[in-house]
Amino acid sequence: MNKILITFDEAKKMAKSVMKRCNILGKISENKNIITRLYLSKEHKHVNIIVEKWMQKAGMKTWQDEVGNICGRYEGNTLNSSAILMASHLDTVKNAGKYDGILGVLSSIEIVHWFHKKNLRFNFAIEVIGFADEEGVRFGIPFLGSKGIIGEWIKDWLNIIDNKGISLKRAMEGFGLNPNFFNKASRAKDDFITYLELHIEQGPYLYLEKLPLAVVKGINGMYHLECKFIGESGHAGTVPMSCRKDVFFAFSEWLMFLRKNIQKEKYSKKIVSTIGKFNCFPNVTNVIPESIVFSLDLRSIDNIILDNFLEEILNYAKKISYFYKTTFIYKKKYHSFSVFFDEKLQEILLKTIKYFQKRTIEIYSGAGHDAISFAKRCPTGMIFIRCKKGISHNPNESVLDTDVALSLQVFIKFIININQNFL
Ligand code: GLV
Ligand code: MN
Ligand code: MN
Repeated sequence: MNKILITFDEAKKMAKSVMKRCNILGKISENKNIITRLYLSKEHKHVNIIVEKWMQKAGMKTWQDEVGNICGRYEGNTLNSSAILMASHLDTVKNAGKYDGILGVLSSIEIVHWFHKKNLRFNFAIEVIGFADEEGVRFGIPFLGSKGIIGEWIKDWLNIIDNKGISLKRAMEGFGLNPNFFNKASRAKDDFITYLELHIEQGPYLYLEKLPLAVVKGINGMYHLECKFIGESGHAGTVPMSCRKDVFFAFSEWLMFLRKNIQKEKYSKKIVSTIGKFNCFPNVTNVIPESIVFSLDLRSIDNIILDNFLEEILNYAKKISYFYKTTFIYKKKYHSFSVFFDEKLQEILLKTIKYFQKRTIEIYSGAGHDAISFAKRCPTGMIFIRCKKGISHNPNESVLDTDVALSLQVFIKFIININQNFL
């Protein structure tokens, strides 16, 4: 079996098919001209139906699990053996690109299809999962799909509401899932011998280095907070400046503090901070704003630095709100520690990449990935593929067919190799 290799010409044809399928899924969106596909939406259902058909065509037995993940299984030499899991997500952010998550799922299906056509079976099964929710856009918690698989769903989450007032419970029912059965999506620990994910880098390093692929060493820790400054509304023309409880002054001074703090040597280049969501109430020209609510996304590979930074900016928010007679409150909505991937697996992946690509770089992921969920369960590895100028979470996401072809060759060689040297 060691002699079986995939040629670059074959891989290029497969890459074309992957890209064509990314285009097909890119048309399934809640808006006509942009890509937005949220968890438990009708577009999610539509995509699951299409991807399931592609999985079946690739020789897999398929099912949709109890939290909405679409799953396929290609049996090994013996029935019911543990599997290599290759996965990524099928949901998107709002106004997304075509490849974030989707490329990893569709490449994995293409790889299984190649094995199926060659009639190759291994000492392990291969499973592919298209995770239902990784971005967390609809309910504010990321990785709902992979958390379902690793049994880390929390019943209380069923009560979370989206911005239209629909609870997760109701959305599941609308999708045709029974919310009481979410636990059934959870898989046994020894179901998977390893987890592999191919993902676009979503950052600039491979593009700048003119390299197609790299092994990912780890993923940044991350906090998601919902923050609120509360003041008092009043008449824009009559309330003297000294009598106001204007949340905008408190917010803007706090934001400038955050900006200056992040530039200090101890934090500079070690932390990234984003306020991506913002609401002002009542949002009227001639009314002093009563409250502003915004999201805060903070990330770093260094957990201690991240915690210190968070503490400093929260303390300052309290201080500045006292000065402006406003109140500051916050809710921690999500936290993950930084993750460092399995070193042995990284070594094998690196060796495989170097067989095809002479030079590569070490890379940490600033973006979160479903691999975070699996890193605590089984040897987990990720490969990044270059995307043009590092652009992602943006409709201009772009990848080269030839890079996709190379990644398919790497994964196929890797799987054939480990079949002999069982992990
Ligand atoms: C997902 O893309 C994230 O990193 O937020
Ligand atoms: Mn994303
Ligand atoms: Mn992603």
